[in-house]
Amino acid sequence: MPCPALPEGFDATDPDLLQDRVPYPEFAMLRQTAPVWWCPQRRGVTGFDDEGYWAVTRHADVKYVSTHPELFSSGLNTAVIRFNEHIRREQIDAQRLIMLNMDAPEHTRVRQIVQRGFTPRAVRGLEAALRDRARAIVAGALAASADGDFDFVTRVACELPLQAIAELIGVPQEDRLRIFDWSNKMIAYDDPEYAVTQEAGLQAAMELLGYAMNMSAERKRCPARDIVTQLVAAEDQGNLSSDEFGFFVLLLAVAGNETTRNAISHGMHAFLTHPGQWELYKRTRPATAAEEIVRWATPVVSFQRTATRDTELGGQKISAGDRVGMFYSSANHDPEVFEDPERFDITRDPNPHLGFGGGGPHFCLGRSLAVMEIDLIFNALADTLPGLRLAGDGPRRLRASWLNGIKELRVSHD
Ligand code: HEM
Repeated sequence: MPCPALPEGFDATDPDLLQDRVPYPEFAMLRQTAPVWWCPQRRGVTGFDDEGYWAVTRHADVKYVSTHPELFSSGLNTAVIRFNEHIRREQIDAQRLIMLNMDAPEHTRVRQIVQRGFTPRAVRGLEAALRDRARAIVAGALAASADGDFDFVTRVACELPLQAIAELIGVPQEDRLRIFDWSNKMIAYDDPEYAVTQEAGLQAAMELLGYAMNMSAERKRCPARDIVTQLVAAEDQGNLSSDEFGFFVLLLAVAGNETTRNAISHGMHAFLTHPGQWELYKRTRPATAAEEIVRWATPVVSFQRTATRDTELGGQKISAGDRVGMFYSSANHDPEVFEDPERFDITRDPNPHLGFGGGGPHFCLGRSLAVMEIDLIFNALADTLPGLRLAGDGPRRLRASWLNGIKELRVSHD
């Protein structure tokens, strides 16, 4: 197989690279020439004491890794491919307390309990409240547009995902601002512009954890007819301990928050740069739009697994203990699976994208909630702000190692 002609030091988890762009041309080259490619990383710089990982770029191979948890563990090195040189190994190991980084049998037990909160009925039950929220958010943005251009990310994309999580676990209105503040601090520390230190991020995580653990202890003492009770105090069923519930809320604050926010921001940018698709959306509101937005945006660029034994992947030998990085952004542009993958097409159907993961036990628990949120916000935008235009120089991107993030998108309204 020919060697890919990649720029010196290329690593698709490099936060400086991702702040600039998602490396689609390099992914295309890798899919063609070295679909399972050894990406060297300097020892210690990423938080891991090894010299690199296998970058997996084809759709079929990402799916294979995701659906073979017996060969590829989520727990051994957790799911994020690159932390930073300041992180200590015990801090990485502590991330195993969240289910994203667990293996069976712990993962199976926790997942079986928490999925009670995500049944189709539970998600449908949030729809009316979230529809009102979406309309109120967009009405607020309309008012802001009277004064000139505004930032779509803070005005529109940020709030609904936070409200959805708060609604899901029944956080009372008066506590929501605090929850939002902790969540935002927790996810901001990779980008120096936010001036949130790692310590402040950690402090916010501890406070959110404490809040959720209290909530759980309260329901154990005094069960109510709500989802927290179902997770922590349901009779005759497995329950979460208070700290397990706390870590679950912590995961939601990351997994359900910034991902959906970025899907919404990228979706808006895609519409504004593909006006024909925006016109089509406003006229027909296709149910397929939200999934195409997630494919197009692929907010989670990558997650990793670690080989549990010597194996083979896409014709490449992998040794036990090797880290294997799955690039969802690349899989979602694989021409073997998507016709004309560079086209933003809100009617694309079927759309077997891997933006929510490649299947298997860790497949995104919040998928239908996320799809509903995206639908609700774009419907509200199409109703109330149909004449949005780009203002300024286009999106300002987030500095992060695994997120395709937009931190500012200036828009105006006719
Ligand atoms: C567009 C928005 C979203 C995207 C792109 C996204 C993406 C992902 C991905 C890639 C995974 C890992 C899958 C794997 O390892 O196989 C994941 C897991 C997860 N997501 Fe989402 N997600 C989104 C929204 C949400 C929302 C709204 C929630 C909940 C409120 C949520 C909750 C979770 C949880 C709990 C997991 C861990 C599941 C497990 O380990 O068993 N996500 N998500």
